[in-house]
Amino acid sequence: MEATKEKIKRLLKEKNAILLAHNYVLPEVQDVADLCGDSLELSIKAAATDAEVIVFCGVHFMAETASILSPEKTVLLPVTEAGCPMADMVTESSLAARKAELPGVPVVTYVNSSAAVKALSDVCCTSANVVKVVNSLEADEVLMTPDRNLAQYAASKTDKKVHLWEGYCPFHNTLSAEAALAVKAKHPGAIFLAHPECPPEVLEVADVVESTSGMLRYVKESSADTFIIGTEVGILYPLSQQNPEKTFIPASLEMACADMKRIRLEDIVACLETFNGEVKVPEEIRVPALSAVEKMIAMV
Ligand code: 13P
Ligand code: SF4
Repeated sequence: MEATKEKIKRLLKEKNAILLAHNYVLPEVQDVADLCGDSLELSIKAAATDAEVIVFCGVHFMAETASILSPEKTVLLPVTEAGCPMADMVTESSLAARKAELPGVPVVTYVNSSAAVKALSDVCCTSANVVKVVNSLEADEVLMTPDRNLAQYAASKTDKKVHLWEGYCPFHNTLSAEAALAVKAKHPGAIFLAHPECPPEVLEVADVVESTSGMLRYVKESSADTFIIGTEVGILYPLSQQNPEKTFIPASLEMACADMKRIRLEDIVACLETFNGEVKVPEEIRVPALSAVEKMIAMV
């Protein structure tokens, strides 16, 4: 494994490439990445890098976001089939139909969505900035896609009327308040952190609601020693690496996203050698999608 990691580092240098990885991907991929982060951090880094090539270790919508922000760069997704089931729960046609029913209502779209859906939206958001984005809009009604749970979380933090969309993360959505409370009862004194993709009743019993990188920051600064983690299990690796003296308990082992685990070191080597797996967003979609993503970044 070490030899493969060295090979990746050499290839990245040779090709003037940067490797970005989401906090959920396999540990060995996080180890070799130039930057690990949440969706917001990764989009900002993708926009700012001088590298000519971005290798994105995450899922398809993340590589698309990098391509939207950096059309002059080559964006590679080592396994092009790595997708996000929640992103597939809103399509261009279904969103266009809903917009027609809600004329004048701005659309706030979670970055976990296709470029074509972003192109039909007024502004994007991530789990790290959703409340800020919704509250910064002048309108007093918004339509949020595709995550119903994230939208309900935003609704609990705003006076605006929030129109929901029936999308959800198939992993975060499996966590129930009963299951979370049972884990809490077993570990009295532990702090329960939940991702806003979890159902509202779970967020109600959470001590902290944060994006993945928000959780990493919170734990680092906390004086507590035990944490219950209500998000995809991949985050346990960076949490344990960065805080070896602290204890982390997954709220549920069912929160394991297969798509986030698809990219292996060998796939990264192959894509750097062949440049297969390029993700490029056509200009007629990229330009309106960029407007929605840039509006979000400007609000951070
Ligand atoms: P964040 O890392 O932005 O919290 O996103 C979570 C997620 O589910 C990404 O697919
Ligand atoms: Fe999509 Fe959920 Fe997987 Fe994130 S964890 S990529 S939201 S299915």
